[in-house]
Amino acid sequence: MTTVSEDTACMTTMPRIGDPAPAFRAKTTQGDINFPADYAGKWVILFSHPADFTPVCTSEFITFASMQKEFAAYNTELVGLSVDGLYSHIAWLRTIKDKIAFKDMRNVEVTFPLIEDVSMEVAGKYGMIMPGEDSTKAVRAVFVIDPTGTVRTIIYYPLSLGRNFDELLRVVKALQTADQFDVATPADWRPGDRVIVPTAGSCGTAKERMDERVEGVECEDWFFCTRQLPATEVESAIRRHES
Ligand code: BEZ
Repeated sequence: MTTVSEDTACMTTMPRIGDPAPAFRAKTTQGDINFPADYAGKWVILFSHPADFTPVCTSEFITFASMQKEFAAYNTELVGLSVDGLYSHIAWLRTIKDKIAFKDMRNVEVTFPLIEDVSMEVAGKYGMIMPGEDSTKAVRAVFVIDPTGTVRTIIYYPLSLGRNFDELLRVVKALQTADQFDVATPADWRPGDRVIVPTAGSCGTAKERMDERVEGVECEDWFFCTRQLPATEVESAIRRHES
């Protein structure tokens, strides 16, 4: 006979960047979802947390929910998950709204879906359980998934470390900017900073880059060339405009 933990261990996989997001159906605090099909055409941040009614997770949910509109402005939806059950999720989210303040945020209503995953089926598909950290709780995993359902970024944090949600918004903006402008974004990039133009793919292009100078492109060397990309241009390409 197979035990539950053997079952879960068998199912544990880990999608990689560039893979299709593993599909699943689940119950959430906002009804049933069919993932990622229900999010076709949108960016999604699928993230796990260890447990309901815990302080770091509570601070994260308040912060994330407070930024939900900002993420939506970049066509990005939030979907949370823990291995707790639906009624626990509902009770916890009600408590957050009624009783908990964090920094200046209070009475925060979490309206994005929170998946119940008591069977650990979804956590197993996304490699969210790391037994060395805890065999019955998901670590703080983040999967950024693009409108075609492809995994574009994966970030993991341990149980004790709350995530930086400004960084997650920066990641979304950087991925969308890379897609829209065919550029890469250097260390600590934020909209308005210079961007990296694609590396010369031939000796001819490398020589041209260094000898002939392309207007607006500055090269430290043939493989490291940047150009300006004003924040207004970035924002008008990636930010949704209210009609
Ligand atoms: C927390 O969210 O506070 C937490 C959860 C699991 C382990 C440690 C901290």
